[in-house]
Amino acid sequence: MSIYLDHSATTPTDPQVIEAMLPYWTQGYGNPSSSHFHGREAKKGLEIARRKIAELLNAKPSEIIFTGCGSEADNLALRGAMWSARQSGHGNHLITSTIEHEAVLKTAEQLRDSFDFEVTIVGVDQHGRVDPADIQAALRPDTALVSIMAANNAIGTIQPILEIGELVQAHGALFHSDAIQALHAFDWDLANMPLDLFCLAPHKFYGPKGVGIFYVRQGINIFPNLTGGGQEDGRRPGTVNVPFAVGAAKALELALAEHDTYITHNQTLRDRLIDGLLGALPAEQIQLTGHPTERLAHHASFALRHLTGNDMLINLDLLGISASSGSACATGNPEPSHTLQAIGLSDEWTRGGLRLTVGKQNTAEHIDHVINNLPSAIEKLYRFNAVY
Ligand SMILES: Cc1ncc(COP(=O)(O)O)c(C=O)c1O
Repeated sequence: MSIYLDHSATTPTDPQVIEAMLPYWTQGYGNPSSSHFHGREAKKGLEIARRKIAELLNAKPSEIIFTGCGSEADNLALRGAMWSARQSGHGNHLITSTIEHEAVLKTAEQLRDSFDFEVTIVGVDQHGRVDPADIQAALRPDTALVSIMAANNAIGTIQPILEIGELVQAHGALFHSDAIQALHAFDWDLANMPLDLFCLAPHKFYGPKGVGIFYVRQGINIFPNLTGGGQEDGRRPGTVNVPFAVGAAKALELALAEHDTYITHNQTLRDRLIDGLLGALPAEQIQLTGHPTERLAHHASFALRHLTGNDMLINLDLLGISASSGSACATGNPEPSHTLQAIGLSDEWTRGGLRLTVGKQNTAEHIDHVINNLPSAIEKLYRFNAVY
């Protein structure tokens, strides 16, 4: 049996998405910046995709920028907003949280360490939630940007971004949210939400890898991170990948149309998994990480005491189960998880992150295979490591 339980890392591409992309490799292959027939055909596809995405998120087409991945959208949000704020004298201070994805955290650290910006990194509670009151307390007259993710990749916790966005905007700063894990966690209505900058990555919802969707509210200046041609209004130079933009739009359309079944199907499997594993192993060995209820519908995450995520992943792989220790980028990395440290777990737990994220193709049988086999694999690891 081969079971894929790593949908937070990436998802298989929906055949309907592939079908929508195909003509843009074989027929509409022109450079969308070229003025001839082939270029115009590609441009038409690109702009239809942009309009579709804008319509689905209730944004304006000119507010949607295509990037090369989700990380690039996060980088462009932080560096672009902070460099622009410095240039226009709108502040030097950035606020973010301890559990952001590395695409945000490392960019914030680079802005602090290499570009002399001031950065406040607010903590989270034991479930990984940012308290809006902590953001309020961290705001300063020179705060230009606050960046808080909509939902966490490692532990699945959904953040109170609407409350945070409101108080950030009332203060006169910009609010960015990395929603790369969170397509299904909110009803995205960007024109009516307190968000200035926002990112999605279609490969998390059955779209292609290698494309990011970056929303910049009209009127906000983003200093480009790349220099080159004038594509994407000069905000993201480089020949736009038309097939991937078309695939991004199709994936978003399908995902939103399937929202209700996605939630019901995934939540049922997620809860079966959480109940099964917590019931099969003692509380001194396993704990659920992340919020018990305010969590992503497809996301089950645990910490195992005295074990490393890598050891568990190897054993799960031998059982035919593809899982993760918390984030795709951390795979192969024996360092403690910064997210598990941020929620206050002690050293015995912070290397033992295990993330099982379900998807459309998973069944109750897949979940039962995990529940029936994982506990004995863990017991073996404990015996091998001479713990318990
Ligand atoms: C919350 C979050 N932000 C950013 C990223 C980076 O996205 P990409 O891999 O498309 O660059 C990920 C990927 O896992 C993520 O989960």
